[in-house]
Amino acid sequence: MDFQLTEEHLAVKEAAREFAQTELLPGVIERDTHGIFPKEQVKKMGELGFLGMMVKPENNGGGMDTLSYVIAMEELSKIDASASVAMSVNNSLVCWGLEKYGTEAQKEKYLRPLASGEVLGAFCLSEPEAGSDATSQRTEAKLNGDHYILNGTKNWITNGNSASIYLVIAQTHPELGHKGISVFIVEREWDGFVVGKKEDKLGIRGSDTHSLMFTDVKVPVENRIGEEGFGFTYAMETLNGGRIGIAAQALGIAAGAYELALAYSKEREAFGKPISKHQAIQFKLADMATQIEAARLLVYKAAWTKDQGEDYSQASAIAKLYASQVAMDVTVEAIQVHGGYGYVKEYHVERLMRDAKITQIYEGTSEIQKIVISRSLLR
Ligand code: CAA
Ligand code: FAD
Repeated sequence: MDFQLTEEHLAVKEAAREFAQTELLPGVIERDTHGIFPKEQVKKMGELGFLGMMVKPENNGGGMDTLSYVIAMEELSKIDASASVAMSVNNSLVCWGLEKYGTEAQKEKYLRPLASGEVLGAFCLSEPEAGSDATSQRTEAKLNGDHYILNGTKNWITNGNSASIYLVIAQTHPELGHKGISVFIVEREWDGFVVGKKEDKLGIRGSDTHSLMFTDVKVPVENRIGEEGFGFTYAMETLNGGRIGIAAQALGIAAGAYELALAYSKEREAFGKPISKHQAIQFKLADMATQIEAARLLVYKAAWTKDQGEDYSQASAIAKLYASQVAMDVTVEAIQVHGGYGYVKEYHVERLMRDAKITQIYEGTSEIQKIVISRSLLR
């Protein structure tokens, strides 16, 4: 067992850290306040190769391992989780499945521009009445000659208004339950596709979360990924990897808050000495560092398991369940270390706490992660 990061991993870490400090930090408070999507920043992330990190070089990707990806996710999430979720969706929820299950033509037309960051993708599973209960899809795709007619509504779609390419999960044979679900590639410009209003959220306020409406959208048969009926398995397999990305995001949010609290504790004085000299503050820092270290080990282990080609559904659910709880605990304590200053926007930790909460909800709530873990234990 080797706990040492390689030169390549350290280079990714440094590049992501540098990008986060120079490109994401300026303006992050303003983007959060006004709910502005980090458009220019995400474009630059594409140019630097952050949007298709694990895609093979022949498909315009970085050809990197999952560990490199989680290291980058952690560093970017320390500063701006709204930017990092756009990255996470594009890498894990869009590019991964297209590369694994897409046809050559689908890869040529869709994966390559997505991996290079020329365009952004979105993953559309959730609906107004199908969130955790993801098999109760209402969106329907009916075969009609050489195309499907798609009707329905998707909810909470990340990159909803900034994407050009959408992977849409829909029922093709409702009578077959989850075995009647399929997955389609849908283009933004197609007739009958409308992007709804942006959600006004507690956290990740820069991320553009939208509902999407499909009315008689014509989807060519060649835009189905895999066979009919494969869509639910496709979504679950995709989410196994996606959850590693969100676990890394949660880790980054926690680590970012901890770094701020540590620095602040050395600067702020109370009762004639830095607050870091008070044992109550020292113990908070010790608890935070311990939780973050444990979360990091779980996140790296999940990434490593995926890279080994082993079943990583349990490891990814464990990493997400734990890291998202750590993100909540650590950000709350980071505000406490900052006292009143922690409660205002200028010091960043209140935003990190608001951003932390979503990591317990999306890509499967914490309760759903427990279902995934316990089913795997009892199998
Ligand atoms: N990996 C692979 N296959 C899985 C799986 C996993 N993690 N979980 C379930 N499956 C398979 C099962 O093996 C089963 O297949 P077979 O019938 O072939 O055996 C099939 O899926 C149905 O499974 P269940 O009977 O267990 O289905 P269920 O209705 O009880 O629900 C669930 C299972 C785990 C709760 C699932 O519905 C789920 O994961 N819900 C959460 C949905 C979710 O995570 N949504 C995220 C949306 S994307 C997003 O959020 C992005 C973002 O914010 C940025
Ligand atoms: P519900 O499923 O209604 O859950 C409500 C509560 O009940 C939760 O606490 C849940 O854990 C609990 N619960 C439900 N079932 C059980 C059970 N069987 N046992 C125990 N407890 C249970 N979806 C996408 O498809 N693509 C995206 O890009 C995307 N981005 C998102 C971005 C944001 C900001 C948000 C808020 C959501 C996003 N989602 C996305 C949707 C997200 O995945 C769902 O919100 C999530 O899966 C929960 O579904 P729900 O909101 O319908 O809650």
